Amino acid sequence: MRKKFLLGNWKMNKTPSEGKEFASKVAPLVKLAKENDIDIGVAPTFLALPSVLDARPEGLIVSSQNVNEHEKGAYTGEVSPTMLKAVGVTHAIIGHSERREYNGETSKACNLKVKALLAQGLVPVYCCGESLETYEKGETFSFVKEQIETGLAGLSSEEALKVVIAYEPIWAIGTGKSASIDDAENTIEFIRDTLKEMFGQETADEMRILYGGSVKPENVRGYMGAPDIDGALVGGASLDIESFKALVEGMI
Ligand code: PGA
Repeated sequence: MRKKFLLGNWKMNKTPSEGKEFASKVAPLVKLAKENDIDIGVAPTFLALPSVLDARPEGLIVSSQNVNEHEKGAYTGEVSPTMLKAVGVTHAIIGHSERREYNGETSKACNLKVKALLAQGLVPVYCCGESLETYEKGETFSFVKEQIETGLAGLSSEEALKVVIAYEPIWAIGTGKSASIDDAENTIEFIRDTLKEMFGQETADEMRILYGGSVKPENVRGYMGAPDIDGALVGGASLDIESFKALVEGMI
């Protein structure tokens, strides 16, 4: 049985004190999620990670939004997996489409980050997803397949089991235009088939795949009803505690 997972991607929002305020109010939600066997977490900016970690109730997963693949050294502006681990971060979002677009991140570069995280016992949340142009050309499957094959290349089945995948069609992110449940399910089912080719049926059946892109309290239940969708990576609707609560309720 795959455990459901709700992860809020705060992107470049919330100062350390705003993050702390959110974390100090989230305890009833963490309890509700636990009672219903759902993992919940948030991904603040690097700067807000310590204040969220300090104020969070036990059980709230804290993720970064990126990581560098090196351990330490002359990489100005970067943060390593060891540093994340040292402050209590357990997860890191890798290859978000905004990083691919604005920071030139490739699936090859993501592969190094995924491996560096796994080496430290951290969980990579590896993102994939196609542009509107690719979607309209009907090339979603081949595009996403390449992202998965390159991003997770060289992993053992044991390592792959620790990875969470997030499928986020770029045209659905922050646009209010979420993918239809059928589109999301079909692509996620295809991703699972790709994982099966790479790591075998048993591993593919156990790996968690989230949908992301304009997930809201009003539509989360629909996605959760699809057989291959195991949770949601949520941007805008994760910033407000009431809306985050409604997302958890929608996943029950
Ligand atoms: P959104 O963002 O929920 O605001 O569309 C999702 C994401 O980018 O992870």
